[in-house]
Amino acid sequence: MKKRLLPAILLMACLYGHAQDAKMNAFVANLMAKMTLDEKIGQLNLVTPGGAVTGSVVSQGVDENIRKGAVGGLFGITGPEKVRKAQEIAVNNSRLHIPLIFGLDVIHGHRTIFPIPLGLSCSWDTALIRKSASIAATEATADGLNWAFSPMVDIARDARWGRISEGSGEDPFLGAQIAKAMVQGYQGKDYSSAHNVMACVKHFALYGAAEAGRDYNTVDMGRVKMYEYYLPPYKAAVDAGVGSVMSSFNEIDGVPATGNKWLLTDLLRKQWGFKGFVVSDYTSISEMINHGIGDLQTVSARALSAGLDMDMVAEGFLSTTKKSLAEGKVTQKQIDDACRRILEAKYALGLFTDPYRYMDDTRPAKEILTADTRAAARGIAAHSLVLLKNDQQTLPLQKTGTIALVGPLADSRRNMLGTWSVSGDYTKSVSLLEGIKNVAGSNVNIVYAKGANIADDSMLVKRANALGVEIETDAKSPAELINEAVAAAAKADVIVAALGEAADMTGEASSRSDINIPESQENLLKALVQTGKPVVLVLFNGRPLTLTWEDKHVPAILDAWFAGTEAGNAIADVLFGSYNPSGKITASFPRNVGQIPVYYNHKNTGRPFHGEDFAKFKSDYLDVPNEPLYPFGYGLSYTSFSYGEVKLNKTALKGNETLTATIIVTNTGKYAGEETVQLYISDPVASLTRAVEDLKGFKKVYLQPGESKEVVFTITTNELKFYNSNLQYDWEAGQFFVRIGSNSRDVKSAEVLWSK
Ligand code: NOJ
Repeated sequence: MKKRLLPAILLMACLYGHAQDAKMNAFVANLMAKMTLDEKIGQLNLVTPGGAVTGSVVSQGVDENIRKGAVGGLFGITGPEKVRKAQEIAVNNSRLHIPLIFGLDVIHGHRTIFPIPLGLSCSWDTALIRKSASIAATEATADGLNWAFSPMVDIARDARWGRISEGSGEDPFLGAQIAKAMVQGYQGKDYSSAHNVMACVKHFALYGAAEAGRDYNTVDMGRVKMYEYYLPPYKAAVDAGVGSVMSSFNEIDGVPATGNKWLLTDLLRKQWGFKGFVVSDYTSISEMINHGIGDLQTVSARALSAGLDMDMVAEGFLSTTKKSLAEGKVTQKQIDDACRRILEAKYALGLFTDPYRYMDDTRPAKEILTADTRAAARGIAAHSLVLLKNDQQTLPLQKTGTIALVGPLADSRRNMLGTWSVSGDYTKSVSLLEGIKNVAGSNVNIVYAKGANIADDSMLVKRANALGVEIETDAKSPAELINEAVAAAAKADVIVAALGEAADMTGEASSRSDINIPESQENLLKALVQTGKPVVLVLFNGRPLTLTWEDKHVPAILDAWFAGTEAGNAIADVLFGSYNPSGKITASFPRNVGQIPVYYNHKNTGRPFHGEDFAKFKSDYLDVPNEPLYPFGYGLSYTSFSYGEVKLNKTALKGNETLTATIIVTNTGKYAGEETVQLYISDPVASLTRAVEDLKGFKKVYLQPGESKEVVFTITTNELKFYNSNLQYDWEAGQFFVRIGSNSRDVKSAEVLWSK
């Protein structure tokens, strides 16, 4: 009975879907039949009246253009009242009353800010990540919006790149799972509910591979690497039904992504079957002039013919498309297709039924930054923290005695939210000092000292403060600040040093060539360590930092990233052990900048090097080991976990047989805790060179002290597949190693032979 019911339900759902599509197609076709050429081109124009913008150009004459039907969507405004005003102009005053869509950078939360995406990814918890996106969608829609410029899924192997903070790190498998979770969280089942937004996966494509980690820089990559390591997260978002895609600033094979037909049509639409619309990034159409491929008319025509539908801010489509049509540089079909895709999105969002459905004035008070969203943010933030070091069980802290809380990030609400939290209000965030006071209880005495400025380098300060004063320069001299901190430390049993980057030392246009903790704070840290008191370093950072000195000299290091609105509470929860840290890093931490790019899924080379000591004529360095300081997937807990051996149900398989790999994980410590058990597969011999290993699965287990659990992974030939030289995704027979462990370095391994 059940067996018959399922196909029947699927068939009905399918028929219903077709009927809905047919209705939408008829509606849009009918509307487009009434539209003039100018009105069609107008739908392709996305403008911003200002606010949080990421370029020098801001749209002019916005109201007038809306009236003329020359605007398809707006971004950069929030609040049902303001959004309603703009929508009223479109609906009441434009000839065909076509509603606008309203977008925004909702990146890691909207008003309730969650950890920066790199931090979120360290939770390896797709359910929590989905939840964060779903809360963001609720808040954004309560604020009048219906389109989020997220998820950002660019793979990054270069910690110099400031925008590594906005993505999920270096691994495509994990990145793809997170991309899917975020799209689901934003869009719900089909984003027709007024509590869901349309998502926009970005930046398509390869933006994270900018040369030298410098933002907007050139990307150069072969197809095999692209398919294997950089494209999977975008594809996962498309497969999850993402409604829109944002093109990236960089070039691919000499053609900027925004005008790249291979990328936007052949790959995205033809190979992947994407049905939504593509929006450019901020002025990325007109930036193709600087890339050197033509004037505004040429580059706009290039973008439209490549398959790009909506022009963010450049107004190249608006000002040149008619001329290009007359001159045969674009076709009517290209204009129609782009217009249709945008109208379809508006239809799917329900805007033709009710253009004001996201403009309920009663919602913000009930749904934005509530006790519930804050509680969720606190829990999610705690899951994103990574314990990098904990000698002699320095952590968790006792709820007695005196704590010296020191550092320029200890009492800074301003820096808790992290980069690009455009609608977050930092005055509502919880600083570490406040969080510690909330959690520590009355038996703890807290002494606070700033100890240093975030940075003293005036050029860095000026540049990092471009969006507001995140780095304050104290009236006291560096020496005075350090002396005060050392005096505070003298009274304490333990020192908590809150150090790192200011929020906008990462993010867009915030690349760094030196990724140490700034010198002012390093001097402070050295002075604190010299006191001989135990030091807990709580790091605030939007990227992996180089922590070689810190790892050697500081007994405990907790990476807090920028944990969002509830940062201080969440960090305090972890410091005092109310939550046992379980985060694992998703980007390798280099020992120094010279190692970059350093990532776990590297190739073997013809002269591989496997050891601590230098070997002449091997692929290594004279002055530093090859391995990163902390490898991908690494992160400690207050408890310890031991791994048994990998047990396979078979060691020789054929064709589509299934392999089961089992390992016993035991909590050998004193605290209950969660462990992310990671599965890597290594394919040592193939028709082309493979990475030493690739992540192919992970599972979370929660274990009480002394408890053991069996963790089982099911492996099929799917996990063996890779892109071969013909870009076919297939597997090849031979020997494989199944590696299971607590990070990409510390694994137990078992061998298997798999034949065709
Ligand atoms: C430029 C950024 O690259 C992109 O991520 C963002 O969505 C747009 N600006 C809009 O602010």
